[in-house]
Amino acid sequence: MGKVVVALAAGCAVAACVVASVMVGRSVRRRRAWRRVVRLLEELEEGCATPVGRLRQVVDAMAVEMHAGLASEGGSKLKMLLTYVHELPTGKEKGTYYALDLGGTNFRVLRVQLGGQRSAIIGHDLDRQPIPQNLMTSTSEELFDFIATLLKDFVEREEKGPITSQQESRELGFTFSFPVKQTSSSSGYLIKWTKGFAVEDMVGRDVSECLQQAISRKGLDMRVAVLINDTVGTLALGHYDDEDTVAAVIFGKGTNACYLERADAIIKCQGLLTTSGGMVVNMEWGNFWSSHLPRTSYDIDLDADSPNPNDQGFEKMISGMYLGDIVRRVILQMSQESDVFGPVSSKLHVPFILRTPLMAAMHEDDSPNLTEVARVLKDTLEIPDAPLNIRKLVVNICDVVTCRAARLAAAGIVGILKKIGRDGSGGIAGGKMKVGSKSKMMRRTVVAVEGGMYTNYTMFREYLNEAMEEILGEDVAPYVVIKTTEDGSGIGAALLAASHSASPTVDIE
Ligand code: BGC
Repeated sequence: MGKVVVALAAGCAVAACVVASVMVGRSVRRRRAWRRVVRLLEELEEGCATPVGRLRQVVDAMAVEMHAGLASEGGSKLKMLLTYVHELPTGKEKGTYYALDLGGTNFRVLRVQLGGQRSAIIGHDLDRQPIPQNLMTSTSEELFDFIATLLKDFVEREEKGPITSQQESRELGFTFSFPVKQTSSSSGYLIKWTKGFAVEDMVGRDVSECLQQAISRKGLDMRVAVLINDTVGTLALGHYDDEDTVAAVIFGKGTNACYLERADAIIKCQGLLTTSGGMVVNMEWGNFWSSHLPRTSYDIDLDADSPNPNDQGFEKMISGMYLGDIVRRVILQMSQESDVFGPVSSKLHVPFILRTPLMAAMHEDDSPNLTEVARVLKDTLEIPDAPLNIRKLVVNICDVVTCRAARLAAAGIVGILKKIGRDGSGGIAGGKMKVGSKSKMMRRTVVAVEGGMYTNYTMFREYLNEAMEEILGEDVAPYVVIKTTEDGSGIGAALLAASHSASPTVDIE
């Protein structure tokens, strides 16, 4: 009996030891896995770091590249494209104009009534349609027929009845938000596609002509009066509302900036005569590159897997098309290197499955249990039951990626201000200035901004504004105003169609 009890006791002790050691082993493994992901997060933070010193280097690099792009064709990754828009709307524009806006997730048609007094946009009607995915990689004829059909339907609805050939010709501003080499303010050919579009037969062709032909095929009497980039439309509306507006930036699916340059600074096009002595330059800053940009292995892989490797490097770190995908790549890496997310979800291998609005929703989840984060992880990435520490980890990843994007965007804006002498530094060659002397020479400078990343993603906006102040310093920052415009890319096109229907053309000697 005694032996049995002893044997039983010994058996229980052994079992307890086994259970204990299994549990200890598990918790050691869990701790190790956790340490591994924390290490990956730290590496991400280090790789994405944007201290103000580095941002200043980016500012300088942007200004230098702008000079290079203006000096010679192909002199920089910044194309610095001429727009032939040498005068911005004055406020005297009058009449009814149409606008088409193609370039992001949606395609928009507008009809704008201008009253002839500054800020007297009497009204505008708008139709917004998502661009069917298949048309983004179809043929130019299919794409433009689709656009022209929607345009015709819109005109018929607006003018209440079928279109007859007797009606007077309508003027259209066409916003086409891709890199275009303009040959005049109303024509130009597509240099390359960005943002996932790939209608191959369009590259090298005149964009206005393609649209004009499609419009004629539909029997619509309408003339393409101007062909512009979305940044230029935003600048036009920004300037219409506030004359101190000198530059415009888009933070949407893609990113880009334009600004008002002195004609004599556009060295690559000597003898350019403009009535105002200036011209709007479309920078195509999405393609900006500098060794000072903080780049991680995730960026390198994203670029290599993209349809346009070595292209649009700045855009791939900043814009809405890509940020969610950087976050997906980080989670995938963590999931592969540890089991804190459970077994590796196959969804993590799907490019662009984590769209930036979902990323923003996770980043800005202020519920105590991060329920939105849990929902996105479960519904989109098929990672169920992520514990709270993992949800917090995901919020941290979003924060690092967005913070870098917004701070680099701010450096880009200050780069433009530096190029045009509005950053208080005395320009590219300017040395250090005495404290207090900066503000004496400062003029109020407005930068018009548009795009969902800035308007809908609060953290992005706050990080950007904060970085602007950090870079500019407290003397200068109050003189620089970032103003959001609404539908500027479209309304601006209508405003420019109005001002260009009567304005003289630019001559090149
Ligand atoms: C295009 C630009 C455009 C920007 C914002 C970029 O991908 O290259 O032309 O202005 O997106 O829409």
